[in-house]
Amino acid sequence: MVYHPRPSWWLPEREATPEPLYLNRRAIVGSLALAAAVPAVAATGVDRLAKLAHRRTREAGEPPTPLADVAGYNNFYEFGLDKADPARRAGSLRPSPWTVAIGGLVKKPLILDVDRFIARAPWEERVYRFRCVEGWSMVIPWVGVPFASLIQAVEPLGHARYVAFRTLGDPEQMPGLRSPVLDWPYREGLRIDEAMHDLTLLAAGLYGRRLPNQNGAPLRLVVPWKYGFKSIKSIVSIDFVATQPPTSWNVASPREYGFYSNVNPEVDHPRWSQARERRIGEFRRRPTLLFNGYPEVAGLYAGMDLRRFF
Ligand code: MTE
Repeated sequence: MVYHPRPSWWLPEREATPEPLYLNRRAIVGSLALAAAVPAVAATGVDRLAKLAHRRTREAGEPPTPLADVAGYNNFYEFGLDKADPARRAGSLRPSPWTVAIGGLVKKPLILDVDRFIARAPWEERVYRFRCVEGWSMVIPWVGVPFASLIQAVEPLGHARYVAFRTLGDPEQMPGLRSPVLDWPYREGLRIDEAMHDLTLLAAGLYGRRLPNQNGAPLRLVVPWKYGFKSIKSIVSIDFVATQPPTSWNVASPREYGFYSNVNPEVDHPRWSQARERRIGEFRRRPTLLFNGYPEVAGLYAGMDLRRFF
């Protein structure tokens, strides 16, 4: 039996804010934040965000994509389908206060008070390549903690094999939920060994600051060897489960979006090639690398036919 000490940000369920109080605080904080927003800054929602303490532990070997692109060219369908919609419309998201319920097949379920977590967690900066299934890519300096540290805190039971993630599904904060483009709320999932891999991050920031709303504030996943849609934003629940969980894009179009969705230049999307990609800010297209250039994850898929498990 391995002993895992409680991390300092662990919050027992009984200490979580009772819901009525929490909802009320949310409303108050939301209106204050709106009143404080300067129009020029509200466009990206970046500058008014507090800096996060961090140390850089991983480089990408190339310069990061400018912040204006990282926070201005987004996929966050809860705020619309156009790449500029999230930056224009995500001001209605209220990322504080926020809780994440972590449970399912675990010994120690917990409700994470995200503001406390952000204040206490041992943040690292990791510069990762990020490849969208649509063929564009970026290099992003995330601020996060290995997702594995959270797994250790809740102590999954032996028969937990997958992790299921869910995004907030509040039409009042997310105008895009009125269009039935996906089966809301947005859901994603990983096999538990993928979730435990050291590259998998729970991110609270980028460029040394808290996440802009359009990038998935207050907490999102970052799985750099998989297509971007696996990196679910604005998470409200994390469940450990025994069987492969349904995921939004796989449910919407199972032929096009598999559960694994590992970056693989040899497995094309049915409607386009995945062999090349365009870094935002560049004109030329460059070859896409297997596992997005993170070969250390190959062992997770030893013996699997990656064409079948795409
Ligand atoms: N998470 C939610 N909840 N909703 C979304 O629409 N889009 C995904 C992923 N996570 C999405 C999401 C897709 S398709 C991509 S490419 C990345 O977020 C984009 O992340 P970024 O805007 O921070 O670059």
